[in-house]
Amino acid sequence: MEIFYYSGTGFTLTTMKTFTALVKEDVRIRPIVQLMKQGERSSAAETVGLFLPMHAFGLPRAFREFLKRFSFPRASYIFALVTRGGAPTKIHREIDRLLRRKGCRLAAFQYVTNPNTFDIIFPLKMEQAVIDARNRAEEDLQAFAAQVCRREAGINRGYRNRFHENVTFPLMKWMSRATGYFNLQKDFYADGNCTGCGQCEQVCLSGKIHLEDGHPRWNKAVSCQYCLACLHLCPVQAIQVRNSKTAERKRIHHPDVDWRAIAAQK
Ligand SMILES: Cc1cc2nc3c(=O)[nH]c(=O)nc-3n(C[C@H](O)[C@H](O)[C@H](O)COP(=O)(O)O)c2cc1C
Ligand code: SF4
Ligand code: SF4
Repeated sequence: MEIFYYSGTGFTLTTMKTFTALVKEDVRIRPIVQLMKQGERSSAAETVGLFLPMHAFGLPRAFREFLKRFSFPRASYIFALVTRGGAPTKIHREIDRLLRRKGCRLAAFQYVTNPNTFDIIFPLKMEQAVIDARNRAEEDLQAFAAQVCRREAGINRGYRNRFHENVTFPLMKWMSRATGYFNLQKDFYADGNCTGCGQCEQVCLSGKIHLEDGHPRWNKAVSCQYCLACLHLCPVQAIQVRNSKTAERKRIHHPDVDWRAIAAQK
């Protein structure tokens, strides 16, 4: 079994690790950021797992690019697990559509609900949200791991809201993508609390951040992946977004994951 993953703040990474411990099979774990950088373009695995967070009611941009460029010529069973803040969307269809372009299809799907790391809009309920998410994830993951071990098909979508999934969310998804998350990548800056430690440069999954004279700069020529690793993993909460409430809001990342594990995806 080969698993491909992407994680900005550790929730997907932790879910993936818990899952691999449950399946009790040999698993090869591949960070997609590294694979794309190294130019690898196909997998010889027969069973393939995709682990990703939901971004703007759909796939994170980096994962969409990965599925467009990568192929799975020998895969007979492909499953996906998506971590999310709670929105009931049709992301499994988007994954399946991209796989079908390569002659494959999505056999099994599971959501795991976490705190929403897009805290620029949504205020975070930190500690309790992490505990609740852990409890829910354990139950969902055990059932899904058993399903995957049996190589059983099945799309497990849980709670649904047909109006939102057919009307509101597709519209918001289109708006987020068309505007680049409302120009978010142009609005990052480090405030006076910055110590110049350089961790934001290390975790930035797109290589957009570089330190100049001990201060982070976001390179306009490099496209942001909107992973929010920089915002949430700065040890002194110095990264802010202009015209937003980030200065008042908490930061979040999975408590079992630190910046090194995120940086190791590159
Ligand atoms: C840019 C961005 C957009 C997001 N959009 C959604 C969304 O549309 N629906 C949702 O349920 N969660 C959304 N989330 C929340 C994440 O999917 C969720 O917190 C996920 O578990 C984070 O995983 P990670 O720590 O592995 O990156 C978004 C997070 C980010 C950073
Ligand atoms: S991680 Fe935070 S403190 Fe460290 S250089 Fe970046 S902005 Fe400054
Ligand atoms: S700038 Fe921040 S949000 Fe954008 S890719 Fe880098 S770490 Fe992620």
